[in-house]
Amino acid sequence: MKKVRKRTKIERQKDKNFITMAIETSCDETSVAILRGDREILSNVISSQIAIHKAYGGVVPEIASRHHLENINGVVEAAMKEGNVSWKDIDLIGVTYGSGLSGALVIGVAAAKAYSFAKGIPLIGVNHMHSHMAAAYGTYPELEPPFISLVVSGGHTNIVKVKSYTEFEVLGSTRDDAIGEAYDKVARVLDLGYPGGPKIDKLAKEGNGSAVEFKRTWLEKGTYDFSFSGIKTGVLNYVNTEKQAGRQVNKADVAASFQEAVVEVVTTKTMEAVRKEGMDTLVLAGGVAANSRLSQVMRNLCDKENVKLYIPPMIMCTDNAGMVAIAAHYEFVERGGDGLDLDAVSGLDI
Ligand code: KG4
Ligand code: ZN
Repeated sequence: MKKVRKRTKIERQKDKNFITMAIETSCDETSVAILRGDREILSNVISSQIAIHKAYGGVVPEIASRHHLENINGVVEAAMKEGNVSWKDIDLIGVTYGSGLSGALVIGVAAAKAYSFAKGIPLIGVNHMHSHMAAAYGTYPELEPPFISLVVSGGHTNIVKVKSYTEFEVLGSTRDDAIGEAYDKVARVLDLGYPGGPKIDKLAKEGNGSAVEFKRTWLEKGTYDFSFSGIKTGVLNYVNTEKQAGRQVNKADVAASFQEAVVEVVTTKTMEAVRKEGMDTLVLAGGVAANSRLSQVMRNLCDKENVKLYIPPMIMCTDNAGMVAIAAHYEFVERGGDGLDLDAVSGLDI
């Protein structure tokens, strides 16, 4: 075993071109990336389990953990090969330690600790949501904090003020379901399969978004919080009522109308936050940022109000280790690494 190399903050700031390997196993993607400096992604290998979980209509935590365990070493090797690096080139190992499924996180954290220990490379635990907000840096070299980030994923819906590379202030959160969860549940009601978000996105293009007037939940005036459980029930009730009355449900219209309602609420509240905080930059993050209607509406609003909008490419929106590596880099420069006592924290806050 080699001794872990410890560096001072000055050293970390001076040598910004260090190479980071990042590991992501918070949900159903086993992913490993290699990053040079803060933004140059040399490889970002993603082994998705979607096909496996499809049969169950959602992610089964035990199955996810088992597949992470089977895949992790192979994905590490593949990322190193594609990034053209060997162990001696790697200066830092970053790993998602929360939030996410506990059993899934533990596999990534254990692997990262084992590699760190065996190869003598510093280790750092990364917050999964910070990674989502860092994803856009990899595509847009000019992007710098501060900005407002709308984080929309299967587990989160947040409006966040990103004050610096490592400081975040949550302005609003969902009080019940995450937006991606609502997409997935509505897709289930419409028998569209899993994961539902992309299916609704696609089907909605053939439907009329004003066909069904689903109630928008705005909550108290001035709050940036969200609630999506009402609209989910609204869709379920609508579909049941139509079926009971013997009418055929136009799935494309329902998908488009549901999407129109959630997109309206999310974009309106986000723009209010941008204005109120006096920001000129907005960054979308998380799996639902890949939604075509959300980006279209956001783009129109931002153009009208002269706000710069950054949306990462789809591969960087959904879970991937590239975004983890970027967040790990900035986190390490700021505070140095973690010890081998790093643990997975399933319910980690932003
Ligand atoms: O960020 P992510 O990959 O995993 C979490 O950390 O949750 O987000 C996954 C979520 C799922 O709910 C999926 O249905 C949704 O993102 N999603 C979409 C689209 N692509 C993925 N939702 C709407 N439209 C899409 N195009
Ligand atoms: Zn995620």
